[in-house]
Amino acid sequence: MQNKQSILITGGAGFIGSHVVRRFVNNFPNIMIYNLDKLTYAGNLENLKDIEHAANYKFIKGDITDTTFINKIFAEYKFDAVIHLAAESHVDRSITSPMDFVMTNIVGTVNLLNAAKTLWSNNPIDDKNTNSVRRIFYHISTDEVYGTLGSTGHFSEQTPYDPHSPYSASKAGSDHLVRAYYDTYKMPVVISNCSNNYGSHHFPEKLIPLAINNIKNNKPVPVYGAGLNVRDWLWVNDHASAIETIFTKGVIGETYNIGGNNEWKNIDLIHLLCEIMDTKLNREKGESAKLITFVKDRAGHDLRYAIDATKLKNELGWSPSITFEEGLALTVDWYLHNEEWLKHVTSGEYLKYYQGQYEQR
Ligand code: NAD
Ligand code: TYD
Repeated sequence: MQNKQSILITGGAGFIGSHVVRRFVNNFPNIMIYNLDKLTYAGNLENLKDIEHAANYKFIKGDITDTTFINKIFAEYKFDAVIHLAAESHVDRSITSPMDFVMTNIVGTVNLLNAAKTLWSNNPIDDKNTNSVRRIFYHISTDEVYGTLGSTGHFSEQTPYDPHSPYSASKAGSDHLVRAYYDTYKMPVVISNCSNNYGSHHFPEKLIPLAINNIKNNKPVPVYGAGLNVRDWLWVNDHASAIETIFTKGVIGETYNIGGNNEWKNIDLIHLLCEIMDTKLNREKGESAKLITFVKDRAGHDLRYAIDATKLKNELGWSPSITFEEGLALTVDWYLHNEEWLKHVTSGEYLKYYQGQYEQR
């Protein structure tokens, strides 16, 4: 196992990270996949139960803001590549605790960049290198760095950054730093900026899993403001497939936008979800929609996000595999069939689940 090539995936116990880890563990059986995660409220190792004993998988509990720890694991495991997803990711939490976002999203990213830079500059690869994993620091980012759109237009890779929330500002800061390491130190970096994800294992304080859970339990479904904000939704498995495409074929130094060309006003999305839930729960048509409750708007709420993913499609041949209606139905089914996962998350039990098994070294 020691001589195997290896990929470090950070934030692999979270929503998107767990899909990426599963995909890479299954698709790259000869490559060691290390999952580094602090297990914050958003990290849940139950997300990875199906692959936790795979021979090419190892979990490392740790905090990316801890410089000594990060340098130590890079020296020990000599990762060949990094896919960096670990982040504080919820806009609402960034409004109440911005410093957590600055620490993890900016300082944590710089710690990883420095550790990779030191490791890779001390171990140059020769020209005859035939390894299947190329050296790459792949930074996973969001479309929110581009700010907000009016009723028309799309974010392209050339759209100037204009973040509005502490979350998007901290992700923009990390993107700039990753790019600066490419320009200054020739670090082999790639960045992708993706639109809103939905799917299984999504922490139920974000819109879609929150709404599914509340509808199921006959609780109010909170819609911020008038529900007119627009998001461009992508199935999380399609984001993971885009990440694999960019990881293997993306051009070093480039940025790729990822999106499903799938814009929905929040209120229309919630009505669609209510209709699906009425059918799945054998409720009368219109019953779930009675739970919709308009609440105070989020401060600085971006009006509309919409991604132009033409570059990714034309240059690397990626496109989403399913429609929103299909993905949403699959997602609802997953939540209805995984009551225990949902119960553990909503009760907080998941935080104790693996306690003691993975202490930070
Ligand atoms: P998430 O909040 O579900 O997961 C984040 C993970 O990072 C958790 O497992 C958490 O424990 C871990 N983590 C947090 N702080 C850490 C630290 N200091 N050290 C180590 N691990 C830490 O987030 P997500 O929705 O899966 O997003 C993953 C990445 O994708 C983020 O970088 C986010 O900005 C980006 N992204 C998310 C979306 C989306 O719709 N969710 C869209 C585009 C991009
Ligand atoms: P969210 O899932 O928090 O993602 P983001 O803010 O990163 O886009 O929210 C998606 C949209 O749904 C956003 O416009 C805010 C809105 N929203 C609600 O209307 N009600 C809610 O309870 C939540 C969590 C979000």
